[in-house]
Amino acid sequence: MSSVQAPEAILDPGLCLTLRPMRYPVFYDMFRDGIKNTWTVEEVDFQTDLTDLKQRLSPAEVHLIQRLVAFFATGDSIVSNNLVLNLYKHVNSPEARLYLSRQLFEEAVHVQFYLTLLDNYVTDPDERAAAFAAVENIPSISKKADFCMKWMDSIQELDHLTTRDHRRQFLLNLICFAACIEGLFFFAAFAYVYFLRSKGLLHGLAAGTNWVFRDESCHLEFAFEVVKVVRSQEPDLWDAELEREIVTMLHEAVDAETQFAEDLLSGGVAGLSVRDMRQYLGYVADQRLGRLGIAPAFHSKNPFSFMDLQDVQELTNFFERRVSAYQSAVQGEVGFHEDF
Ligand SMILES: [Fe+2]
Ligand SMILES: [Fe+2]
Repeated sequence: MSSVQAPEAILDPGLCLTLRPMRYPVFYDMFRDGIKNTWTVEEVDFQTDLTDLKQRLSPAEVHLIQRLVAFFATGDSIVSNNLVLNLYKHVNSPEARLYLSRQLFEEAVHVQFYLTLLDNYVTDPDERAAAFAAVENIPSISKKADFCMKWMDSIQELDHLTTRDHRRQFLLNLICFAACIEGLFFFAAFAYVYFLRSKGLLHGLAAGTNWVFRDESCHLEFAFEVVKVVRSQEPDLWDAELEREIVTMLHEAVDAETQFAEDLLSGGVAGLSVRDMRQYLGYVADQRLGRLGIAPAFHSKNPFSFMDLQDVQELTNFFERRVSAYQSAVQGEVGFHEDF
């Protein structure tokens, strides 16, 4: 039977139920802050988007949107699945499990948002079905899905993290979903949305994306905070080899996302090139590495001025709501990237 005693370390197997005294108030605060971010899909108005799609988008931009919608159709469901199957059972802190419950709700709202988007944008039932089948049929999307599934499967057989190797595998899964999937695949998708917004297009999609962006930024912060706790409790789990594995994983993610960009932009979208997109991906990947205290691997500058505002927004949200956690974070060994 699982132990209900407070565990030594957050990854020790068991079912800790003790909320007083509270051992990890940082996760409880994140849970409470998450509730303040509640939004509903019904608040998003897609009306002007429909006019844009019919009258203002070029055929190349329509192709971009079709591919993006096809990615969005299944992306958040994959993240939810990993959360339930691989994260919740191993993070042995009732405070952190509260946050994960909140995150699961937010992912469900994201799934509903993208479903509603698809229903609005794509009227033909066969085309809607094709969007959900994209993970198998469209090579640039199946490559990203395969990457997610590989990492999801990597710890699915593990019921208890009893060895050092298990715990490192757990860390890699957690970091993959935060840094590469939520933190890179989704951030690339946001960049396309904000590029179109900068041209005055698809304001409904951009409005909903603002909320998804804020939610995802919090999901990343939570995951990186778990990493920080694990590292402080079990410093020997983290070594140069693990860092190399993380860098390799990010390279793989950037490659998969670049292939997606080649497909999305294959019609030739004025003002957006695959080269710029790859540079942006390198910039984002270096941000994630920096957040983990790892040296940059891509050395890219952000080529997208239309994303500057988003970085400021991310920072503002972060500081408004996370001041105390940030202060304790800088004392630990995980560095906080100055450009974040
Ligand atoms: Fe999400
Ligand atoms: Fe998320």
